[in-house]
Amino acid sequence: MSLLDLAPVIPVVVIEDAATAVPLARALVAGGLPAIEVTLRTPAAREAIARIAAEVPEATVGAGTVRTADDIAASAAAGARFLVSPGTTPSLVEALEASGLPYLPGAATVSEVMALAERGIRELKFFPAEAAGGVPYLKALSGPIPDVRFCPTGGIRATTAADYLALPNVGCVGGTWLTPADALASGDWARVEKLASEAAALK
Ligand code: 3PG
Repeated sequence: MSLLDLAPVIPVVVIEDAATAVPLARALVAGGLPAIEVTLRTPAAREAIARIAAEVPEATVGAGTVRTADDIAASAAAGARFLVSPGTTPSLVEALEASGLPYLPGAATVSEVMALAERGIRELKFFPAEAAGGVPYLKALSGPIPDVRFCPTGGIRATTAADYLALPNVGCVGGTWLTPADALASGDWARVEKLASEAAALK
């Protein structure tokens, strides 16, 4: 199954304390969002991926902010089941292709999208979505490049997600709004579950 079709929203999570990873993942899954992207932006990220992979089998945990072949190797070793990158370099796309895992390479321009489509890669992350042109930009892309689908991420919130999801070339959206830093710090998993269930109901 395509990564873009697992759920309408992929929560992008920044985990500062690996001890929060499992209750956080359980809250997201309970809310109806099984695909979880843990960004490799914190020292706790790899441990967080490993704990979710080991203890929350209902979740499909992936690694985000993947920038190098080393990131890919470490993510795979931790148990990541998919990979997401903010942008794409020639060496990174080769490493993604060689990883054996599903992946969403980042693109933000027409030429980047075309270069990846030339390689047969037709499911991409559109990042940074709002800053790069948002809904009107993706709508414009769907005319000349109807065969590429996106997971836009970056600046998307509960109030704007539906506008993206209504586009024919958007399979799902990603974002951090479901996992506010203060909710994670205070262990407010009920709040995370509520945000997740609202997001899971989006079409
Ligand atoms: C990402 O890595 O996809 C973004 O940082 C998520 O962006 P957001 O915080 O604006 O949702």
